[in-house]
Amino acid sequence: MELYTLNEEEQIKVLRSLSEPVENIDDQLVDYVKSMIDFMEDNNGIGLAAPQVGRNQRFFVIRMSSDQDPLYFINPEIIGTSTELSNLEEGCLSIPEMYGKVERPAVVQVQAYNLRGRPFKIEADGLLSHVIQHEYDHLQGKLFIDYLSERKQKKIFKNFKVE
Ligand code: NI
Repeated sequence: MELYTLNEEEQIKVLRSLSEPVENIDDQLVDYVKSMIDFMEDNNGIGLAAPQVGRNQRFFVIRMSSDQDPLYFINPEIIGTSTELSNLEEGCLSIPEMYGKVERPAVVQVQAYNLRGRPFKIEADGLLSHVIQHEYDHLQGKLFIDYLSERKQKKIFKNFKVE
């Protein structure tokens, strides 16, 4: 598994593309999604979306601490957001060592499929809400830096080959 970052043209293309729905939750996909957890933890991340490892498919994983069960989201849909907003500092494995405050709806409701192909719903606030929305954005080709001020983005552009 390879981490895609904003340093390479081909990888930027993948990170900036709209991902396609998963058609079959088969054993191969399940193994792959599970292996993303180890890869993410080796890289000290708490969330990882498929485009970040080079696949434009709609799934992501989240594990905020080692004492929690991993969360798997396949074909996720955001079905509700609060009008109340939340401001938290975010970072991204694909944009190493860059951080910025991002404002998002404080509460998010998501529907997705788990590894057994069963639909589930989750409502999250706080950090988990940010992580879910951040990972969902990856499936849309959107990155957290898109929310930052132009001044801050310019600073990041200097460090990366960003389009
Ligand atoms: Ni990210």
